[in-house]
Amino acid sequence: MNPDPTASRAGFREDDGEGGRILALTMISTPTKCATRHLSDQFETPVSPSLYSCACFNYLTFHVTILITGGAGFIGGNFVLDWLAQSNDAVINLDKLTYAGNPETLASLQSDPRHTLVQGDIGDSALLAGLLAQHRPRAVVNFAAESHVDRSIHGPEDFIQTNIVGTFRLLEAVRAYWMGMASDAKAAFRFLHVSTDEVYGSLSKDAPAFTEAHRYEPNSPYSASKAASDHLVRAWHHTYGLPVLTTNCSNNYGPYHFPEKLIPLMIVNALAGKPLPVYGDGLQVRDWLYVKDHCSAIRRVLAAGTPGEVYNVGGWNEKPNIEIVQTVCRLLDAMRPRADGQSYSAQITYVKDRPGHDRRYAIDASKIERELGWKPAETFETGIEKTIAWYLANPEWVAHVQSGAYREWVQTHYAQPEGVQQGLASSAESSAS
Ligand SMILES: NC(=O)c1ccc[n+]([C@@H]2O[C@H](COP(=O)([O-])OP(=O)(O)OC[C@H]3O[C@@H](n4cnc5c(N)ncnc54)[C@H](O)[C@@H]3O)[C@@H](O)[C@H]2O)c1
Repeated sequence: MNPDPTASRAGFREDDGEGGRILALTMISTPTKCATRHLSDQFETPVSPSLYSCACFNYLTFHVTILITGGAGFIGGNFVLDWLAQSNDAVINLDKLTYAGNPETLASLQSDPRHTLVQGDIGDSALLAGLLAQHRPRAVVNFAAESHVDRSIHGPEDFIQTNIVGTFRLLEAVRAYWMGMASDAKAAFRFLHVSTDEVYGSLSKDAPAFTEAHRYEPNSPYSASKAASDHLVRAWHHTYGLPVLTTNCSNNYGPYHFPEKLIPLMIVNALAGKPLPVYGDGLQVRDWLYVKDHCSAIRRVLAAGTPGEVYNVGGWNEKPNIEIVQTVCRLLDAMRPRADGQSYSAQITYVKDRPGHDRRYAIDASKIERELGWKPAETFETGIEKTIAWYLANPEWVAHVQSGAYREWVQTHYAQPEGVQQGLASSAESSAS
């Protein structure tokens, strides 16, 4: 849902009566219609009476904030776009803007007052404390991570720093904030940690799919660092009572995917007439989920998940990599045929396998379906077609990623100082206040 065009924003107001809570307040110009989805639409946990009431219907409204980390990345970016399309809750988006953080993904939110992009590190404790104190989020969703397995093999240090140390600092900052909340807000608060099925290791051909009870057997520096972060999150619940939720999801694909990952790489290389590199024999099996289904699963877990619980998220779409590549080629043959009439599959090239390459991942997503009623909306066939159509319709986004121009996007497009806050500036500001 897009914001009601009749709504005008009154800005952020601070209320000293309830511990200085800062709420994003949207004023409605016509008192008969409210564009706002009220908190109860999204969150089923009990909440305290609102500090503000909407002019419309005399609803008590909860125009509040969530803190997203890593929201300029692939999944986080899709999540922020989906969230703001369905709710009027403000989003504070903390992202370091590494090579994987692309603010251009969020271009449509440029003048949306509900979205604030803060450039900063989840490992920056002072920045975190300042943001939490300033915006008083009712939930934190942690997407921020180094996420590319190949990069973790060549340079594991960043993975240790962000995925382990960063998650630790984030947990500590959130714990301090949560401890200071009023009891009803404290009970409703959630910290959702977004993780991966790769923490479970590799499955043999006929082994049953990973359930939440599967032991952790990470094999790459990436999956080991994510496994460590999952353990920290678990421990912060068991030791300190922090109301955490963890999701372990299978491979995602969809719009805004950085073209270093399999599916976008194949689309982009195919169109550019370049080789389509397939590791080893191409028979590594992955379970694929359309990114918007991952976003809906996270929203569902946030709304109704039980603190301390882990939910596996998957698409029931186990496929060998080579089949994925052939499907991409077949669809491109139909949607954007090669000039010479040949199939894009002629560009497939087998390359040396990556070290320690896991053979098979498969997610058993029956717990989230049984307990929370979540199911993916897309099949692989519908999702991959939408994905290819998106890449064909958005060559500029791809070109900017390839040329590196996306890295200048913030400077070029956010001339106004309030568009993107620099972490250091806002950290200094909040510690001064
Ligand atoms: N992509 C998948 O298929 C997949 C599957 C399951 C789980 N996950 C998990 O989902 C999360 C998001 O994955 P993605 O594919 O969107 O990753 P991504 O690499 O596209 O995005 C990561 C984002 O985090 C930001 N970031 C990195 N280090 C940071 C730091 N120290 N502080 C603040 N921001 C930082 C980056 O700038 C980027 O915007 C990750 O935690 C990943 O482990 C991904």
